[in-house]
Amino acid sequence: MVQVYTEELKQLFTELFHRQAQLVLRAPGRINLIGEHTDYNGGFVLPAAMDKAIYFAVAKRDDGQCHLYSENMSESHTFLVDQLKKDGPSWSNYIKGVLAELQRLGLPVGGFDMVFGGDIPLGAGVSSSAALECGVSYAMNVLYSLGLDKLHLVKLAQAAENNFVGVNCGIMDQFASMMGKKNSVIQLDCRSLDYKYFPFEMSEYVVVLCDTGVKHNLGTSEYNTRRNECEAGVAILKKHYPKVETLRDVSVATFLIHEKEFPEVVFKRCKYVVEEIARVEEACALLLKNDLEAFGAKMYETHDGLQHLYEVSCDELDFLVDETRNNAHVIGSRMMGGGFGGCTINLVHKDFVDSFIKSAALAYQQKFGIPLKTYQSVISDGVSILEKHLDAPMGW
Ligand code: GLA
Repeated sequence: MVQVYTEELKQLFTELFHRQAQLVLRAPGRINLIGEHTDYNGGFVLPAAMDKAIYFAVAKRDDGQCHLYSENMSESHTFLVDQLKKDGPSWSNYIKGVLAELQRLGLPVGGFDMVFGGDIPLGAGVSSSAALECGVSYAMNVLYSLGLDKLHLVKLAQAAENNFVGVNCGIMDQFASMMGKKNSVIQLDCRSLDYKYFPFEMSEYVVVLCDTGVKHNLGTSEYNTRRNECEAGVAILKKHYPKVETLRDVSVATFLIHEKEFPEVVFKRCKYVVEEIARVEEACALLLKNDLEAFGAKMYETHDGLQHLYEVSCDELDFLVDETRNNAHVIGSRMMGGGFGGCTINLVHKDFVDSFIKSAALAYQQKFGIPLKTYQSVISDGVSILEKHLDAPMGW
């Protein structure tokens, strides 16, 4: 797969720009086993980089122009690096966002030609946006010798989405895309940014994503609303415990003492978050003991919380999760990512993957009239350079 994309993009680059790419790189999407909507609350997450990725062929220009071509959208866009406006296709905002953050740091980033494309399903909740931001920030770092380390690039990619795109996302997606490691999940503490890799080579079970094929419009506005609701909860707790900065800083028991002080909706949102933060720690302990069945049960608890307390699920996601509840070969299932569409993540016994996919697809088609797309997920490395020819002529 990597080879196919690399060759295709290099060829396209030469056709469009009449020269060779200086850099070819790959930035993956992400999965997340457990820990949803905990990142911006200072909690834990357990994501990994996936095999599906965006590939980039890119080279510097010395005239300040940025010429972009999205292979997936068959669309191009050109602008000046020092005139970043939200006037192009929506995908260009992720790229401009990265450039704006580099400029905010006063770093000398110039123009470039770039072709990109890949196999990350769009709108499926596996964060093609983070892959785009991480790939571009990594490419700029190398092309313009900016000297930033990977963690710095992660924060920069997140800031691009917060400030230019306008989604107040946490750090999980960019972290996983940049720092992912083959056959490992990352246990990330989003408060301290301490992280460790957990080996994740399940012999009996595989990760299967079921893509609802829907992305309800609510996504961005509801996401930002949830963040505000969590902050409202923190403000209430802070009156009693001035040191509380995020929901991570209170235990479930302490939180529950103050139930009466919370508006109902804020209470539900915060209850989900404090429980989920505790759940991820328990889930990690289970993973270390290799107790996958108990781990899977935690995934169902997460889904229930996201459905009923955090209210970021939707009928399509709930249906797919419910379909697995009586399937002995699926030990865990839940919606994944921000919500309101996208994928469910399922732990399925390796001998029953085909039958699981067949029955889920049939039921989904009958219920919603939508063909179900499924992806067996392979855990891969984070952003990586595939080819570097920095001595190739710069052109223009
Ligand atoms: C989106 C955001 C992440 C995270 C998840 C929910 O993917 O980009 O930062 O908050 O939703 O866990």
